[in-house]
Amino acid sequence: MTSELPVKESPKKKVSSPKKTSLSKEPLLVQTLRGMRDILPDEQPHWERLRRFLSNACQEFGFQRIDTPLVEYANLFIRSIGTGTDIIDKEIYCFETRGGDRVALRPEFTAGIARAYIEHGMQSLPKPVKLFSTGPLYRYDRPQEGRYREHWQANFDIFGESDPILDAQIFQIAFRILTQLGLKNIEFQVNSIGTPEGRKEYRKILVRHLESQRHKLCQNCKERLVKNPLRVLDCKEEKCAQVTANAPKSADYLDAESREHFKTLLEYLDELELPYTVNPRLVRGLDYYTKTVFEIYSTNNDRDGKKASLGGGGRYDGLIKSLGGEATPAIGFALGMDRLVLEMIRLGVKPYKESRPKVFLAQLGDCAKKKSLRIFSELQKNDILVAESFGRGNLKSQLRAANRVNAEITVIIGQKEALDGTAIVKDMVSGTQEMVRQEKLFFAVKKILKSNSQVNHNGNGNKK
Ligand code: HAM
Repeated sequence: MTSELPVKESPKKKVSSPKKTSLSKEPLLVQTLRGMRDILPDEQPHWERLRRFLSNACQEFGFQRIDTPLVEYANLFIRSIGTGTDIIDKEIYCFETRGGDRVALRPEFTAGIARAYIEHGMQSLPKPVKLFSTGPLYRYDRPQEGRYREHWQANFDIFGESDPILDAQIFQIAFRILTQLGLKNIEFQVNSIGTPEGRKEYRKILVRHLESQRHKLCQNCKERLVKNPLRVLDCKEEKCAQVTANAPKSADYLDAESREHFKTLLEYLDELELPYTVNPRLVRGLDYYTKTVFEIYSTNNDRDGKKASLGGGGRYDGLIKSLGGEATPAIGFALGMDRLVLEMIRLGVKPYKESRPKVFLAQLGDCAKKKSLRIFSELQKNDILVAESFGRGNLKSQLRAANRVNAEITVIIGQKEALDGTAIVKDMVSGTQEMVRQEKLFFAVKKILKSNSQVNHNGNGNKK
């Protein structure tokens, strides 16, 4: 949003009271901001399935969760991601607080996590330090399907190891999550962009190539040519792609160490039999990367034939030092959760299914209503999932609700039962019902559930 951002923190200003505006007089728009959306209950089962597999992956690969603030000093992102990138020049939500701090909504996780790593002295922890984050991020992008101004990522970062086996493990984690989700047609695109020192030489050669065909580039790329020429390689415009098709490749100009690192990584990927292709034009849109960069695509094309990346990442061995910490190699990646859910829906992947309540609790009359609350919590304490419709007084409509949730048992407490301490227990499978004392209710419910599960287990669904 703002390209002219101060690199130094602004000095603390005296807190001034907010300007009096007539905001309260503006018409109230009952709608989300452009590019932002509600994730409604209907979509949540897909998100829940994703969240569960992410949590499994954290356990399997030894990641610990970290939550960092949504708002950080703007400079943290500017220095990490780099000016000349789309995120900083066009997309970051940046503003000044009432206290005069220049802050930004996080456009990605890694900068905040690197800041936390330094701030909390994590360099003294046993290596590698593996951190996982998830939450919303903000980029003032042009909204379309799969591209939002508020989007969610699942972010994995590993600090303290430079060995390419960690790079391979990052690919392995991504692949594990995606295949567990049921997304089968996955392809990794991988490249190495070497070290910043080594890249200087490559940059010169690339600029020479691009300058010779400057007139064929789009306006954006003409600007990139000055500010961040490697980004020209990533441009999706057809005319730019033609210019870069024969451009010199970063992998051909790597220093010896980066070349060895890349070669070993590819050997590991072969060993793991992961589906990858080397894409010499892949540079990524954030400046902190060194050596390995990669993106993840589904080979099922979108409706318009374009591919949107489901995730991406790479190594960033210089970031922690550049932010003032001890030199610490690091690698990570993030999956775009909104895009994964879209892909799950597109492929008809089964969403997560909540366990359904086994018991429905119906009540009739004020006294029964009071008793029901206690009975509800007692059944819950014994790990029995109970549904109810406490707001309704009418028994008929409560029984309709019981049918809707498809409960195996309906417990009915009427005025009489409330007074004499009993309950009617109706087995919805066999249709039989019995009267039990309230203190024995749990045992009666348990007995029916057990007998129903045996009937199901023996393949005979009919108890009647
Ligand atoms: P990124 O490629 O900018 O990387 O974002 C990661 C993923 O987030 C993308 O592949 C895409 O799936 C999703 N994504 C990005 N922008 C949007 C958007 N506007 N709407 C919907 N989805 C989006 C990073 O952010 C790095 N911090 C990843 C990383 C972690 N590198 C090292 N560690």
